[in-house]
Amino acid sequence: ESYDMAGHDTYMHKEIVEQVDAVDRVLRGRIDDRFATVRLGGLNLDAREARSMRRVKILGCGSAYHAGQIGAQMIEELARIPADAEPASEFRYRNPVVDPDTLYIAVSQSGETYDTLAAVQELKRKGARVLGVVNVVGSAIARETDGGVYVHAGPEVCVVSTKCFTNTAVAFALLALHLGRIRDLSVADGKRIIEGLRKLPGQIAEIMELEDHIATLAKEFADAKSMMFVGRVRGYPVAREASLKLKEISYIHAEAYPASELKHGPLALIEPATPTVAIVPRDDLLEKNRATLEEIKARSGRILAVAHEPQEKADDTIVVPRNEPELDPVLMGIPLQLLAYHTALALGRDIDKPRNLAKSVTVE
Ligand code: AGP
Repeated sequence: ESYDMAGHDTYMHKEIVEQVDAVDRVLRGRIDDRFATVRLGGLNLDAREARSMRRVKILGCGSAYHAGQIGAQMIEELARIPADAEPASEFRYRNPVVDPDTLYIAVSQSGETYDTLAAVQELKRKGARVLGVVNVVGSAIARETDGGVYVHAGPEVCVVSTKCFTNTAVAFALLALHLGRIRDLSVADGKRIIEGLRKLPGQIAEIMELEDHIATLAKEFADAKSMMFVGRVRGYPVAREASLKLKEISYIHAEAYPASELKHGPLALIEPATPTVAIVPRDDLLEKNRATLEEIKARSGRILAVAHEPQEKADDTIVVPRNEPELDPVLMGIPLQLLAYHTALALGRDIDKPRNLAKSVTVE
């Protein structure tokens, strides 16, 4: 992949389309069918350490933090290690208790984000084990961490992250599978996740076929003053990232909430002029999510669902291909990158260089 625009009008569009190849690249050479696991050469974490760690703490900023939230859920689900993600910028200022039995993971596209780097340095100073999930090879965070997983998204030029976000989520799936197979994930489940991973590039190509439909929807959303994004558990970081993406490039105000929290306050915002984007995978929370759609509809809210089949209560549904439930967050965010892109295009925004933002924030 190169720095030229390859016929696209923006780097963002080029980078969204490149995800088919980028995801193929993060998988390449890493799958080990014989043991239903993956090989992560630079991880620098032996099986004994992987078995004895008691927690995982993931740190990053912005989209990297959201990818880390997806990663934390994957690690909990597949490796059954308690895991959570926190903005690196918050972590470093709250004098955190550094636990010797916790594995810390710093996530960053650039590998140069000051807050994330400062969190790594503080952790190292206190003797913690810190790994990196980083895109830029040889960057400061890659150098300062004890090992890690390269994301292999290729150069990302647009200020907003698309292919690197997706590849980071896939890199976390690899790490979660690796840790899971060292711990208690069965061979059958290992194989199931591997099959799911192999399907991803083809399924991303299928999502790209939806672009015209998404562009039509985006023209309707371009008039919105504010938008709500909701999802439950695996869908929640997807909602947060989609909301951030829309804000960054369209300048439309957007909120992201766990769908379960709507009734605790934000439901007051729902009215016809505030559309909701709902993440509705066909998983064990489907009925709960459908009840949320009903609550929104009862307040005359316009709904766009991202789902595995058309949703009756939604005004429109973007139907995405089905994979293993643990990998849903990888696919469900991609149509919403296209939605943000086409909304910003309809509004005539400077998509690759949104106002007030820099590609990497290397100062405090
Ligand atoms: C992404 O769309 C943003 N521009 C921003 O949130 C970014 O993810 C964040 O600044 C972290 O950057 P990094 O991944 O290079 O550390």
